[in-house]
Amino acid sequence: MKRLLLLSLAALLSLAVLASPAAASNTNNADAKGEVTFSEHVAPLLFQNCVSCHRPGQVAPMSLLSYKDARPWARSIKRAVAQRTMPPWFANPEHGEFVEDARLTDQEIALISKWVDAGAPSGDLDKMPEAPVFETDWQTGKQDVILTMDPFEITDEMEDHYEWVQVTNPLNEDKWIKSIEIRPTFTEGAHHNLTYIAPPGMTLDEVEGLRRTEMDFIAGWAPGVVPMIYREGYGKLLPAGASIFFQMHYHKDPGEGTGGIDETSVGLKFYDDEVDNALTTLWIVDPALQIPPGEANYQSASEHTFEHEALIFNFTPHMHLRGKSMRFTATYPDGKEEILLDVPDYDFNWQLTYSPPEPLKVPAGTKVVLDAVFDNSAENPANPDPSATVTFGEATTDEMMIGFLDYTYVDQGKQVDMPNYAVPPAMKEQWERIRQLRRQQEEQDTTSGRD
Ligand code: HEC
Repeated sequence: MKRLLLLSLAALLSLAVLASPAAASNTNNADAKGEVTFSEHVAPLLFQNCVSCHRPGQVAPMSLLSYKDARPWARSIKRAVAQRTMPPWFANPEHGEFVEDARLTDQEIALISKWVDAGAPSGDLDKMPEAPVFETDWQTGKQDVILTMDPFEITDEMEDHYEWVQVTNPLNEDKWIKSIEIRPTFTEGAHHNLTYIAPPGMTLDEVEGLRRTEMDFIAGWAPGVVPMIYREGYGKLLPAGASIFFQMHYHKDPGEGTGGIDETSVGLKFYDDEVDNALTTLWIVDPALQIPPGEANYQSASEHTFEHEALIFNFTPHMHLRGKSMRFTATYPDGKEEILLDVPDYDFNWQLTYSPPEPLKVPAGTKVVLDAVFDNSAENPANPDPSATVTFGEATTDEMMIGFLDYTYVDQGKQVDMPNYAVPPAMKEQWERIRQLRRQQEEQDTTSGRD
């Protein structure tokens, strides 16, 4: 948790919170009289762990910035922290350590419980630490460029809707991306955004067709996702003239007054110069899902072997409503196995990224296996239709089995054409054939002067 503070809190909150003596010293203990109060004990915890989402204009349903805001929620807060449903976090703590880990300590949970049990007293509100000041709504501060999609109307009737949008990129020189932050404006109904860089000239029609694997996925947004900030010296190239595409997913209950307009933006910060190390996002995928009706334990696997020594920066599991668990396991060339990330209770509502504190350096020949389990039974409360055979597809009611990871090769000379897509071994040949055919097609298109 401390690392989370270093990484994102400095950006998210004013440093006053960290510097405040109340926040620093009193969070673990009640005061001399043994009384736990909001002003001295609970507020600092909420400021550090909750208000990044629980403040006006953010994804959470209520603000927890003041005593007045938080008091009516005291019992729910106790329940949510005791059951560890808040803050949202899904990695099995036995495997790996991640900078986004926002879990409260047992002590902190006990402190909150004690406060609630005592009637949630305010204490002396003059002793409250300063509420964090959010300078700008961009959590990463001033952006070098902000690209905004054309207004899109989510109608009252819409329930589950995907929309691909092309966002004009006005930059006519190569830029190396340092951070990416995505902000939808219709937070009530925006379920996720995926942002891609596409080769110059690629059209929306092509994107809606089958050329998606040629695009580079750079970042996404969903409730709880923090901005992507690359490690100093590592970045992704935004080539001159490259297009940016959003895949927007809106999801809400249909009904009068539920619609609205969305104008999602992506904010980018750039390095001044070229960076030394180019990152690539790898999709480890099983596109051949075939989940039988009622199946509670459908297993799927895919894998990727790194041809050269590599650095892995983060993991992002992605499934839909039947997704039950996902695990990334490395098998090293010496045969040793290590679980890199284990998410035993996947929840579609939270699309989190898990970044180890230091990038994982893996030797050439390391295989990363992605294992996923799906629950298509009626016992899965999220299951929209246990009688359906479910295959891979975009709608929430279809399934996906994707493990994203950002990586680069240690040897800078090898950082060109890094693989960005991995399928199960049985599909590899077929997949290569499709890629080759596509490449030939493209060459023909270019030589015949199309576009
Ligand atoms: C990453 C964003 C995020 C963080 C951090 C977060 N919350 Fe939440 N919280 C949400 C969202 C979104 C909801 C509503 C959806 C849901 O209930 O899953 C919610 C719901 C809740 C609820 C209502 C649950 C219920 O019983 O209906 C409580 C209480 C709560 N949060 C408390 C907290 C506390 C306390 C913290 C910090 C210790 C915290 N949250 C941190 C996003 C967040």
